[in-house]
Amino acid sequence: MFKKLTLSAFTALALSAGAAMAAGDEGHVHDVDFSFEGPFGTYDQNQLQRGLQIYTEVCSACHGLQHVPIRTLSDEGGPHLPEDQVRAYASQFDIYDADLDDDRARIPADFFPSSSLSNAPDLSLMAKARAGFHGPMGTGISQFVNGIGGPEYIASILTGYTGEEKEQAGTTFYENTAFPGGWIAMAPPLYGEDVEFADGHSNELHHEAEDVASFLMWTAEPKMMARKQAGFVAVTFLFLLTVLLYLTNKKLWAPHKGKKFDL
Ligand code: HEC
Repeated sequence: MFKKLTLSAFTALALSAGAAMAAGDEGHVHDVDFSFEGPFGTYDQNQLQRGLQIYTEVCSACHGLQHVPIRTLSDEGGPHLPEDQVRAYASQFDIYDADLDDDRARIPADFFPSSSLSNAPDLSLMAKARAGFHGPMGTGISQFVNGIGGPEYIASILTGYTGEEKEQAGTTFYENTAFPGGWIAMAPPLYGEDVEFADGHSNELHHEAEDVASFLMWTAEPKMMARKQAGFVAVTFLFLLTVLLYLTNKKLWAPHKGKKFDL
């Protein structure tokens, strides 16, 4: 019986290792220490605002964020922009209004525009749609320790260009060490010093990449902080409940403990 079990366990391991190796040409994703990691991690409001600026000035030329309501830019725990700034921000994008049968400026209740380039995917949920960390051997241990790695994947794509390009069937592909397969159809969108931050924060390439990756993590999971807080409250409550039940149990049985029964 035991022999059979070990045998099947070995077979399963060997199979999954094989599958992981077959998936071989995963790109290289480097780990980043984001502020929102860990059980008490929170979004860095200034970083989200810088990421929004990079998205707006660079990425939005091709990519949309069609699942993100613009009003959430004023949410606490998010970029937390003042409401008048959110109104001004919304008004720079037009939207077709069926009631008016005409275009009008967006208001905070509207969503971000969708992608304007047909082969550029919408970025609203990208940070949760991609896994940066796998293995080792497809076991998921790396994900357990480092997280799924969505924002790391985005940051790695943005910094992973080698400078090589090739043309295939009329499309230019750019070599990228993080992109699965190694060749991506997106030209390097960031080189460093692409945006000027009002607070003079560093606009080196890897800083810009992390800022916009962090912003895209927020668009994909805007309620992360509320979720972590609820989790913390639940765990604290369960701990207190455990202590109370333990003491109740002790008290209930105290009169009978250590008693000798005459049989
Ligand atoms: C000139 C247009 C253009 C700009 C600007 C642009 N992208 Fe892209 N992006 C694309 C295209 C096209 C693809 C699809 C590439 C492919 O599938 O090979 C893409 C793909 C992606 C992907 C998805 C990779 C995947 O796993 O499918 C991410 C993430 C991404 N872009 C992030 C960004 C960010 C962040 C910015 C701004 C810093 C940006 N892009 C700017 C055109 C653009």
